[in-house]
Amino acid sequence: MSNQSETKPIAHKLFSEDWGKEPEPKLGTKPILGDRYTSKKFMELEWDKLWTKVWQVAGLEQQLEKPGDFFTFDFGRESILCAKGEDSEIRCFYNVCQHRGNQLVQIEEGNLESFDCAYHAWKFGLDGELKWVPDEEDFLQGSPCGKRNLLQIKAEVWKGFIFFNLDPDCKPLKEYLSPIMEHLEDYPISDMIRTHWVSVEGDWNWKCVQDNFNESYHTPYVHPGLKYVAEEKYQACQFDMYESMHSRMLMPGFIPSVSVYGEEEKVLEMIGPHIEYWEMDPQDYKGKLLDIRVDLQKQKRKLDKEKGYDFSKFKDTQLTDHYHYTIFPNMSFSVKPDGMQWLRGSPHPTDPNKCIFDYWYLTLFPKGVDKYFSPALGLETDIKTKVPHITGHHSEVDVGPGISEDVAIWTSQQKGLSSRGYVGDYMPSQENRIRYFHENIDKYLFGTSGGDA
Ligand code: FES
Ligand SMILES: [Fe+2]
Repeated sequence: MSNQSETKPIAHKLFSEDWGKEPEPKLGTKPILGDRYTSKKFMELEWDKLWTKVWQVAGLEQQLEKPGDFFTFDFGRESILCAKGEDSEIRCFYNVCQHRGNQLVQIEEGNLESFDCAYHAWKFGLDGELKWVPDEEDFLQGSPCGKRNLLQIKAEVWKGFIFFNLDPDCKPLKEYLSPIMEHLEDYPISDMIRTHWVSVEGDWNWKCVQDNFNESYHTPYVHPGLKYVAEEKYQACQFDMYESMHSRMLMPGFIPSVSVYGEEEKVLEMIGPHIEYWEMDPQDYKGKLLDIRVDLQKQKRKLDKEKGYDFSKFKDTQLTDHYHYTIFPNMSFSVKPDGMQWLRGSPHPTDPNKCIFDYWYLTLFPKGVDKYFSPALGLETDIKTKVPHITGHHSEVDVGPGISEDVAIWTSQQKGLSSRGYVGDYMPSQENRIRYFHENIDKYLFGTSGGDA
């Protein structure tokens, strides 16, 4: 396969109309060693210096429709309580009773008028204020009501995502997410409904997840089907690393890779269902597979209103290509005008060899459409059916299309990273985003990028 691909030219590199290529940062050569993934000490350092300083996503605004709606989100050793108040304000709190530290809310979601502790019945309002305690007159220090309120956490809502930051002195979300907010401005993400929601406990460190989504070097081998529907060769892709520590990859979609030239039937079979929705006949593209991408862009523009979309603000490449962003330190997403695949590896509360991995898919239902076949998920979704939160161990739960192939790798990688026989990475340039990611972690942990070996 590789010999064939080396001899063919890469047909497309069409990102000139995008925000442009970011200048490459200067990276060091220090090896990324296995103990970063296995050491309890390193994990503790990450908690103190990284996780308690960075913006994270607790959940979605669509989980809090009316006053009294709440949900909890477990993040490392913490539980975060998010609630919509009587004033419709969304607030995040440490999920901890201020009497003697009992975890206040034990369920994942619901609707309540107040949060009542199961231990001694202290009653907190939706805004976190302590409203009532038994035997209020018995406190020498004075009544705790209105005083020992829930500890509020900084929170901001952007595009329907509820972000929080455990650092009260953190920079504003807008500044933290630069330039991602600008890039995503026209995507109707707030209107997208979560149609896939899986969280698994995995036997790997959270960085295995982010490393993986920071490179596409693995795609021909871990995702053998991708080459029929995307030009995955690195020469055709664009990789950007931003000063804000986030990064992205652009990969041409709806075009077969040079590595599969000659496999026309298979390409048409794989791309067919996607383009048929846009009233293109796969058989018309026999002998001209490379025209599909640009024709699909034109067809989407032509039929968008008729199909219940509005693509007028998007660039052509955004209609067909993979715009894959990694938000430092642990979130990644691939975004299209009609949907978003959202991925995250979070730290385990106690074990560096474990992680909580989330896979969401957010679907934009076309206007007037309640039931929609999601090509990305390969299933029929219904706007009225609330998606269940599927949880479990990764060995028992199918995470979802495509990503389960990545999941299978991380367990064996974690085993290798724990071996005395692993002496550190040896990476090609197309994996630079991984190096950038680790250098940025070091900036948080040690105040320096680690530099050269
Ligand atoms: S610990 Fe919550 S009321 Fe006592
Ligand atoms: Fe992958």
